[in-house]
Amino acid sequence: MSTIAKQNHRGAYHFSPRENWMNDPNGMVYFKGKYHLFYQHHPFGTTWGPMHWGHAVSRDLVAWEELPIALEPDEHGMIFSGSAVVDRRNTTGFFGEEPGLVAIFTHHAEGTGSQPPVQCQSLAYSMDEGRTWTKYEGNPVLRHDSYIDFRDPKVFWHEPSAQWVMIVACGQTVCLYRSPNLKDWTLSSEFGEGIGSHDGVWECPDLFPLPVEGAKDQSRWVMLVSIGDHPGFAEGSRTQYFIGEFDGERFIPDASSRENVRWLDYGRDNYAGVSWSDIPAEDGRRLFIGWMSNWKYANLTPTNGWRGAMTIARELRLRECNGDIVLIQQPVRELEAYRKPVVSLENVDATAAAKRLSGLRLESFEIVARVRFPDSSPGEIAFRVRAGAGEETVIGYDAAAAEIFVDRTRSGIADFHPSFACRHSAMLEEAPGQLALRIFVDRASVEVFANGGRVVMTDLIYPDHASTGIFVAADDERLRIEALDIYDLSV
Ligand code: FRU
Repeated sequence: MSTIAKQNHRGAYHFSPRENWMNDPNGMVYFKGKYHLFYQHHPFGTTWGPMHWGHAVSRDLVAWEELPIALEPDEHGMIFSGSAVVDRRNTTGFFGEEPGLVAIFTHHAEGTGSQPPVQCQSLAYSMDEGRTWTKYEGNPVLRHDSYIDFRDPKVFWHEPSAQWVMIVACGQTVCLYRSPNLKDWTLSSEFGEGIGSHDGVWECPDLFPLPVEGAKDQSRWVMLVSIGDHPGFAEGSRTQYFIGEFDGERFIPDASSRENVRWLDYGRDNYAGVSWSDIPAEDGRRLFIGWMSNWKYANLTPTNGWRGAMTIARELRLRECNGDIVLIQQPVRELEAYRKPVVSLENVDATAAAKRLSGLRLESFEIVARVRFPDSSPGEIAFRVRAGAGEETVIGYDAAAAEIFVDRTRSGIADFHPSFACRHSAMLEEAPGQLALRIFVDRASVEVFANGGRVVMTDLIYPDHASTGIFVAADDERLRIEALDIYDLSV
């Protein structure tokens, strides 16, 4: 057996397809008590190929049941990324008394000879909770003559203007359209020139409002835009966001979004993520999931028989921070039901904590830590996880540099692409002297949420099945670990 075949890199609490290839999450919608997750899927191979929509459902965003394929390629081409909505008012006329689901997705036809590929937007609808779908006979419903890259429609109902709004990627901008019925679309505006990162093609946008925590009665619109891989950038594909106002037709970015590029995640493996549609008002959360990979090496990751996993589901919020409004991500609370307590310490130094951790062996788990640094000599604290013979993944905070880092240079199988073995870091300037960490470790990933999700780093790792050691160390004995809890999350 090959080394890869012997390894079980399928996450214990992350969604991955039973077999074959997966990339972007698509069509996430909540309907009749279930969270639906569709996804870019090649059902006949473990590398990217003719795209279908796979389908999975969950009642708690953690345990997923994979269902039969939802959408297959047809005479208009492959089924690329898109969204799904509940058509409550039967604006499409597809439904009777009972509302059903409408998927709005990109049809991608490969180019032939001198003909470039064609991308356009199409519809399909389902009356049986997404099990079976009918493609709309009027497809495609939206074309664009100027862009070859014209894809990944995200649609939502905009109550103030009582219409559907679509945000869709167009080359290196996004276009906003409006429609009364999801079939007839009118261009409202275009956004993106001269703003944000243009390191790669723009893909998988999203647009939604959120209240600003701590600022009474304030809310803002958030735009997510994923940007594709470009050979010139070691980071590969990643997701940026903008904050601003939206009036149903036009997105106006805040000054700070005009000045700086903002990244959703500082790790390498959180791409093409968008949010769930139709979350009930009484829940009120903006729920997000991303594809836990990177186009730099997505086709090469060392799994056997399947390839591709999603991040854990997260809640997105806006927080006021040093006079700025920033997007934060937090793991969904549903994950807490899976916790099996293993370690619980209070007010210890790193040596005492290290002693308690010695001999502990865990593969899929969560670390929750609260640390206070001495004022006079800011030091470093680091956790080493999935540690074994010659391998470890290091997650730490360097208080002098005010930086969170993940080092996966020796994390296990790391030589399948030159960009994979790396250490990367992100500034965490907030609340000097204090650090709150939640670290999710699984069979092939680490997800780090620092200071309540102010900085997030999501990274794939491919350690040996037997590398299950956990260590903690600090370079200053005065550093206090105010609380340290470790939970087994193997399910
Ligand atoms: C993003 C993406 C989308 C496209 C899909 C194709 O990862 O490139 O823009 O719709 O993947 O699988």
